[in-house]
Amino acid sequence: MGDKRKIILTGDRPTGRLHVGHYAGSLKRRVQLQNSGEFDDIFIMIADAQALTDNADNPEKVRQNIIEVALDYLSCGLDPEKSTLFIQSQIPELTELTFYYMNLVTVSRLQRNPTVKNEIRMRNFEASIPVGFFAYPISQASDITAFKATTVPVGEDQLPMIEQTREIVRSFNHIYGEVLVEPDVLLPDNKACMRLPGIDGKAKMSKSLNNCIYLSDTEEEVRKKVMSMFTDPNHLRVQDPGRVEGNPVFIYLEAFCRDDHFERFWPEYGNLDELKAHYTRGGLGDVKVKKFLNQVLQDELAPIRARRKEYEQKIPEVYRILREGSEKAQRAAAQTLADVKAAMKINYFDDEELIQSQAKKFKAEER
Ligand code: TRP
Repeated sequence: MGDKRKIILTGDRPTGRLHVGHYAGSLKRRVQLQNSGEFDDIFIMIADAQALTDNADNPEKVRQNIIEVALDYLSCGLDPEKSTLFIQSQIPELTELTFYYMNLVTVSRLQRNPTVKNEIRMRNFEASIPVGFFAYPISQASDITAFKATTVPVGEDQLPMIEQTREIVRSFNHIYGEVLVEPDVLLPDNKACMRLPGIDGKAKMSKSLNNCIYLSDTEEEVRKKVMSMFTDPNHLRVQDPGRVEGNPVFIYLEAFCRDDHFERFWPEYGNLDELKAHYTRGGLGDVKVKKFLNQVLQDELAPIRARRKEYEQKIPEVYRILREGSEKAQRAAAQTLADVKAAMKINYFDDEELIQSQAKKFKAEER
């Protein structure tokens, strides 16, 4: 087991541009993992087929957002030389695996999946859940196992998906023999990164709530959004003591600021703890803290924005990267599917022994 290849698979649904919540929760980590050189293969998937499970009536939205997500990936530093970027729907092997895994999952197990439960509620699907949507955790298990992924870096909301995948792997290997690999989840190590709230303080950034800071926002858009952020509602006058717990501005600082940001932008404080202590004591206004957060975010986002501008001028090349990535991903998935079909004994034409032994059997019966 010690020499097991280390393989990453993860991805995003192309339903909108990616925002700093995606960045803090997963993208930044992916780039670090990519550059660590510790992984034998890294597959990053644009999950368009999964996006269609709850956007079946809006294919144009999914289609238009593929390039947005690809540009966000590349601008964050995912490097097509080191990571395979691909589009889910272009790998038919994934749907084939899904069909066989469906036999290993019960309806009641899917109904208990907390992420699915929550999404059904959010989309008002209660009365009429599309079968494809209901089954997407099984398709996600195919995404992961097709590449024999050992490591799945995702946000906390995806935990139930990985758990369901592990159950499918165990069940498959138990029935058909050791073919599939049980993946481990890799969550953000910083708690603030795990769940970045919207700029309005709501639990999640979401396009429909209009509370996101996008990676592709201009410098001015970011500044305006930061300056309009919710803070402690009881911190009315500068001299009032403020609360840092649950205060979006401080949650963002926890996710993004480092000691060197203080050195460069606000040397009055040595680190975030000192800033928090002053805010809690009273005598520190929100505007000053927001201005600092803006500097920190601009520092992080400026190189991303610059790289995006470059790739925006090379759209055909981005599509070429996705096509070549999809071809490479398909080769990997096809190998796993062949292993799966052999284990399930549905590889009739490759099984010379089956053909010969049956030939012999029927001959013998004739005598
Ligand atoms: N469900 C993920 C999301 O909504 C996207 C996704 C699809 C994914 N397949 C995956 C993530 C496999 C990790 C592994 O963001």
